[in-house]
Amino acid sequence: MRSSGQIEHGAAGVAPSGGETAASAGPDPREAEFQALIDADQRIEPRDWMPEAYRKTLIRQIAQHAHSEIIGMQPEGNWITRAPSLRRKAILMAKVQDEAGHGLYLYCAAETLGVDRAELIDLLHEGRQKYSSIFNYPTLTWADVGAIGWLVDGAAITNQIPLCRCSFGPYGRAMVRVCKEESFHQRQGFELLYALSHGTPAQHEMAQDAVNRWWWPSIEMLGPPDTESTHSAQSMAWGIKRFSNDELRQRFVDMVAPQAVVLGLTPPDPELRWNEQRGHYDFGQPDFEELRRVVGGDGPCNRQRAAHHLKAHEDGAWVREAAAAYAAKHAATTAAA
Ligand SMILES: [Fe+2]
Ligand SMILES: [Fe+2]
Repeated sequence: MRSSGQIEHGAAGVAPSGGETAASAGPDPREAEFQALIDADQRIEPRDWMPEAYRKTLIRQIAQHAHSEIIGMQPEGNWITRAPSLRRKAILMAKVQDEAGHGLYLYCAAETLGVDRAELIDLLHEGRQKYSSIFNYPTLTWADVGAIGWLVDGAAITNQIPLCRCSFGPYGRAMVRVCKEESFHQRQGFELLYALSHGTPAQHEMAQDAVNRWWWPSIEMLGPPDTESTHSAQSMAWGIKRFSNDELRQRFVDMVAPQAVVLGLTPPDPELRWNEQRGHYDFGQPDFEELRRVVGGDGPCNRQRAAHHLKAHEDGAWVREAAAAYAAKHAATTAAA
């Protein structure tokens, strides 16, 4: 295992930002310049000065996002060999590969903050960095692939569109491409569920059952309620987060509630109804206690997901060694030429 201390002590491999030395001599004047840039809606780039807390927050958030993309390949990858047609298999393979790509952009974005990808993966394996709790639920039927695309990718888009304007340049730019692919993901899930919902009674029932199981975890994906969200206020001041968890949750429900009508499927929320006065849908409270349990490691598939990732990582060690040996050989040849 690699040491993970670097993250706590700031950026390895990047010129020191000076935040910590300056702290002892009172407020750093660069902090005001940094905040002025953010307030003017300008981007912070990797070589710019930034407070250590901003860097650490971004590393934590981008790493958690990258881990979610990669772990998120598991529940759906599970269905590639069982997709019911060549067309569905091709769509699902493309989607799962997109998620791998999202993970890679995001690890690269995190690396611009001075951490090493291998270090982040070690933190994931040690359970010291998290991934989205949604991927700790099992995919029991083929309809789950549709429900994940429609609801889970739908919640991801809701969360990620405002991140395209994130104050940290590499993260915001990665999100632009990711969001384009996410909208294809949501569309394919919707189309899959639509076909099942309008198919045989058994197919309709399977689609409804999948929506029953994925609805609440997707609503919970937008995070804990604003009253309990620990990092929100600072992230908003830094231009990392643009809307609160509860605002995003409302947006998500407003998007998917009318889509459910087109699908002919009923969300498992008796309180879901259009509120003319508010101009939004009213909806019930998710079970945040359950969310805490799953985030805390006690979801149906937490152990399985972590073990699978660790095994894949260990099985792939020879690829990393071969790539490093090739790069070293190539560097030596270039230097000699
Ligand atoms: Fe993704
Ligand atoms: Fe996706």
